[in-house]
Amino acid sequence: MKRVEAYIRIHKLEDVKLALEDAGIRGMTVEQVKGYGRQQGQTDKYRGSTYALNLIPKLRVDVVVEDEELERVLEIILETSHTGEIGDGKIFVSDVIDAIRIRTKERGSAALR
Ligand SMILES: Nc1ncnc2c1ncn2[C@@H]1O[C@H](COP(=O)(O)OP(=O)(O)OP(=O)(O)O)[C@@H](O)[C@H]1O
Ligand SMILES: [Mg+2]
Repeated sequence: MKRVEAYIRIHKLEDVKLALEDAGIRGMTVEQVKGYGRQQGQTDKYRGSTYALNLIPKLRVDVVVEDEELERVLEIILETSHTGEIGDGKIFVSDVIDAIRIRTKERGSAALR
């Protein structure tokens, strides 16, 4: 299993979410975060404003998927969150060693299905 951690523009969430749902990907966590990339937030604007300490509001979207789903999920996020402008965001991928559905105690792949 892989964890896809995508930092995206706030207004892109709906597109990303709908596309992932359409692809049968069930489950995600979304959190509002503030951050900066290599421009240190200086040329990345959010609603026309420059932010204190150059921290720009973004969303972190977390999705844990099967290995076989990874490339499809990455494609979807890349496609739907892209504008071509500075500050489009970044995606990090990491290994997940287990998943457990608390209600049923199912583990691994079964906990994702
Ligand atoms: N190395 C990093 N570690 C953790 N979070 C990061 C990192 N780089 C970017 N982020 C997060 O991603 C958000 C968007 O980054 P951003 O798109 O500006 O990346 P970038 O590398 O500067 O690319 P671009 O040149 O397209 O702006 C940041 O606001 C921050 O929350
Ligand atoms: Mg940047």
